[in-house]
This record gives sequence, structure tokens and C-alpha cells, in this order.
Amino acid sequence: MRFASIVAAVGHTPLVQLRLGPGDAVCHAKLEMQNLYGMKDRVARQAILHARETGELAPGAAIVESSSGTMALGVALVGTALGHPVHIVTDPRIDPMTLTKLQALGCAVHVVPRMTGNGWQSARLERLADLMAELPGAFCPQQYRNPQNPLAYRALAEELLADLDRIDVLVGTVGSGGSLCGTARALRRHLDRLWVVGIDCTGSVLFGQPDRPKRLQSGLGNSLIPANLDLDQIDEVHWLNDREAFEATSRLAAEQAIFGGNTSGSVYRVLRHLARERGPGASVVGLLPDRGDRYHASVYSEDYRREHRLHELATRDEPELVTWRTEVGAWSRALVPPEAERSRVAQAAAVR
Ligand SMILES: Cc1ncc(COP(=O)(O)O)c(C=O)c1O
Repeated sequence: MRFASIVAAVGHTPLVQLRLGPGDAVCHAKLEMQNLYGMKDRVARQAILHARETGELAPGAAIVESSSGTMALGVALVGTALGHPVHIVTDPRIDPMTLTKLQALGCAVHVVPRMTGNGWQSARLERLADLMAELPGAFCPQQYRNPQNPLAYRALAEELLADLDRIDVLVGTVGSGGSLCGTARALRRHLDRLWVVGIDCTGSVLFGQPDRPKRLQSGLGNSLIPANLDLDQIDEVHWLNDREAFEATSRLAAEQAIFGGNTSGSVYRVLRHLARERGPGASVVGLLPDRGDRYHASVYSEDYRREHRLHELATRDEPELVTWRTEVGAWSRALVPPEAERSRVAQAAAVR
């Protein structure tokens, strides 16, 4: 495939059928990891091109983003390719591979030295605010609330519709909510019976769970509810603990020859389950966000898993069906209730 520029080459990712059993649904994995850096290359391109079109981002003005993962790399790619100085705010937990890539692309990487009132997150946001004040005309993509984030996935939905005659179930992990909600919203214009399954980690607040900030999984989960999470787009949610997600990531490599990050592993675990549940004839699609390279010293490291005592976590071979807001610690699933019901349960939980 030939493209006029590196920015035009974002997207157009392969869709591959997974090798599963004869009693399983047909499962396809959308290899977003085959973007130059990862799935967020799409978001960065959409947000930056839109800001240039509206004039919010002038030619040559700076772009500032707080991220230590796929969004940082996407912004670095698109921002530098279009001639903008790119500033990435991060903290000492950034992995060396991502840091190397950001520096190689010529980004200014600002590593905050210490936590402030609300941990690393607040330290990063304070530094980001300082930079926005210091750099007149700077633009911040704000993936958690920028509507261009979910809109970036219209193209992904079109790619799926062009490749498949039938899609019954869409599966994806949720961090900002952009990829799953944006893809689902665009697909639903064509597929009125689509069933959408979101995946979160245990200890994240996205789907009504209490916050447990010591989560090891990266990419998905959150301690705050992002504006781009549209629960009306999601029918069912699964939670996996760190051990379940990491083990599934290794299985994805061993069984399908796909070396992915932990969110790809989580999608694989849930895909396999749904493939068995739905059975032959059904069509299930999962979004695989990034490659495994930067997780070599964490997800793929036995020393790391031992050090974090992952073997002590209980795991399940099948998800336990729970009601909304039941606290979970291992693989569980729940149906997302309608809006009115969600707020009623939330109020009852607050009174308790
Ligand atoms: C590796 C990885 N997987 C999954 C996600 C979740 O995607 P979204 O923010 O679109 O919900 C992210 C988000 O940053 C990510 O970096």
C-alpha cells in the first residue's frame, strides 16, 4: 500500500481471523498494533488535523500532552511530522522503550520529579498547565474529553464494514472510552443488533467499581470517569485482574503468534469466551491496541510477576455474572443497566 505521507499511513490495519475451535464463533482481531506506534495514532491524527482546520492550532505552534503510552507516541508521530514542537509530560514510571522513541522523534519529554496532592496524575496536570501558560498558542489534544477522540474511530468502523459481511459482537478495552464507544457508535449506524462488550481492570472506577489505585495493567481503567466514556454504547462489561490479563497476554502470543500488550491479552481472553458462548455462525471482532515490546520487563517478565506476587491472585476460567456495582476481584461480567437504573443503583450505593 502506498501513502503520500506518514500521517496518511495511519490506520488501514490488518484484520485477522483467529485460530479457535470448531464449536466457536468466527473471531477476528483488528490489529491496531500494526499502526506505526499503536491505536492512538488515529486519535492524534484526528485531533491535530481538526485543530489545524479550526485554527485552534496554528502552523508551527506547540502541542502539549500528558501521557506515558500510546497517546504520547501518536502525538509525537503526527505532531512532529506536521512540523510542530511536541512536549510530552510524563512521570518516572514511563518505560524506557517509549521514552527512547519520544526522544528519537525530537519531542521535549518533561518527567515530573515527584507526586503532588493527587499523586502522579496531579503532578503531571500541574506541569501541563505550566507549559500551556509558557507556550503561547499551544494546543493540548485532551483525549479524555475531546470529541475528536471517538470520531477518530469512524474510519476504523468503515474498515471493519468493508472487510466483514457480518459483525454480531464488538469487544474492546476502555481507558478514555474513545476507541470502543467511537467504533460502536459508527458501526451502529449500519448494524442495529450489534452487541458491544467493554473490558476494564478490577479496581478501576469506569463501570461503577471502587477505586484501587495499585493496578498494574496499563492502557485501560481509570480513577476518574472520562467524558468520552458513553455507557449507552456498551451492553456488557468484563473485569479482569492483573494476573488474568497478563496470563491471557502470554496465551495470545503462544496460541496466535500475536505479541501484544496487556490490553490485547484482555481482549483475547474475553474473545475466546464469547466465541464459545456465541458458537458457530456468529461473528465476533476484538480491537488489539498495541504491541508487546514495551511490556517485556513487566507483563512478559516472570521476575516482575513474582515481585508483584501475581501468583497470589485468584483467577477464574470463566467470568462470574454479577449485578451492577457488585465489587469484583477476579474475572466477572455484568450487563450495563440503562441510564435510569444506573443512577438509582449509584444513589443506593452512596446511602449505604
Ligand atoms: C495500550 C492501550 N490499550 C487500550 C487503551 C484504551 O483505549 P481508549 O482510551 O480508547 O479507551 C489505551 C488507551 O490509552 C491504550 O494505551
